Amino acid sequence: MNIAIIGTGYVGLVTGTCFSEVGHNVVCVDCDESKVKLLQGGGIPIYEPGLEEMVKRNVAEGRLSFTASTAEGVGKSDVIFIAVPTPPLEDGSVDLSFIERVARDIAGAMTSYKIVVDKSTVPVKTGEKVAETIKRYCKADCEFDVISNPEFLREGFAVEDLMKPDRIVIGSASERPNEAMREIYEPFNAPIIFTDINSAELIKHAANSFLAMKISYINAVAAICEASGANVEEVANGIGMDERIGRRFLNASLGFGGSCFPKDLSAFIRISDDLGYDFGLLKEVQKINAGQMDRFLKKITETLWILKDKTIGVLGLAFKQNTDDVRMSPAIEICQRLLKEGASLRVYDPKAMEKARELLPAEGVTYVDDMDSVADGCDALVVATEWPQFKELDLAKAKEGMTSPILFDGRNLFDPSELEQLGFTYKSIGR
Ligand code: UDX
Repeated sequence: MNIAIIGTGYVGLVTGTCFSEVGHNVVCVDCDESKVKLLQGGGIPIYEPGLEEMVKRNVAEGRLSFTASTAEGVGKSDVIFIAVPTPPLEDGSVDLSFIERVARDIAGAMTSYKIVVDKSTVPVKTGEKVAETIKRYCKADCEFDVISNPEFLREGFAVEDLMKPDRIVIGSASERPNEAMREIYEPFNAPIIFTDINSAELIKHAANSFLAMKISYINAVAAICEASGANVEEVANGIGMDERIGRRFLNASLGFGGSCFPKDLSAFIRISDDLGYDFGLLKEVQKINAGQMDRFLKKITETLWILKDKTIGVLGLAFKQNTDDVRMSPAIEICQRLLKEGASLRVYDPKAMEKARELLPAEGVTYVDDMDSVADGCDALVVATEWPQFKELDLAKAKEGMTSPILFDGRNLFDPSELEQLGFTYKSIGR
């Protein structure tokens, strides 16, 4: 198939690359010319395991290219995917101006039948608006179909999720475009759900909100575990083995972050409100998530008492493992709050230090190049991101360099009894 992808963010770039990997001809379009130049020169603007090699291979084999011209992308393609950002507005609603802009650009460039597929996360009923917009601005008066095809990839595992999806959701108003969509997705060997556009759009918000709810649920259970002396991991294993519940997304933490869950949750609450339903359950999910950070900070202040002039080592800045993304990162929030209390920080992240510099103040933060020296001279150590390599930290050596051996583990990476044996004061979540 000949495919255009508009927008080369996480979703667009990885989707386009994986489509080319299975043999489709893909042109990725982005209005940011510097990004297009970077990609054309073999550079990758994000860190995503496995992506760089895949981009290089497909560019070399002539199936993947990049351009800043929407008209070029539309002209070369039968199917056009929209994968532009849908950021939150102040009031929790979704900014759809990028989607509308792209719909107009596509309409202006169309000269024959096209299938326009929305992959961005959008409120239910957006497909209808996109179709109206294309109709209004299409000078050539050609036929087209609008499809909703939400993307469920996780950052850090994006290539894996794209190549082996649990399911593909296709929302369309007629049968006509479905054959082409089947052909695009056939190489991925995943079940395809064909449904109407509104349901497809709703599936995405409902799925992300459910997963966020699962995390807040286990975080609330973690609070009860702390109050009662139970262990949240034992509880998560026990309930997770029930196939109706499942163990995944039951890891107690500092709370969820990133560019999706917080935004999609607010959007879904707002969408429901607009449709006349008060989704109180999801408001509670948000409240528990915010409270998680407060409870963690309280553990730190209860132990260290005054934070002013204390030095705290922070392991992890990304919002989760395997990514350099720091947007809405709980790790960044904890850094900001510790700094506000007057502490100085020694921070380390395997991938996210550069991006963190843009969010953290210049003063009071020392960026440490290797994990093993983070603890040097620290009054306490905080684990804020679940990078698996943090488990390899030489704790005995870290302890030697610390003023006092205290570790606050916001990701339950370490074994409490091991840490206690080593002489650490160790506080984690729900254990
Ligand atoms: C999420 C969805 O998983 C994905 O399907 C959707 O397409 C985009 O949003 P992503 O934001 O990349 O993906 O990250 P995810 O792995 O879902 O983690 C989100 C946040 O929840 C992270 O901060 C993570 O650390 C946290 N989390 C996740 C927990 O605190 N506990 C868990 O058990 C799982």
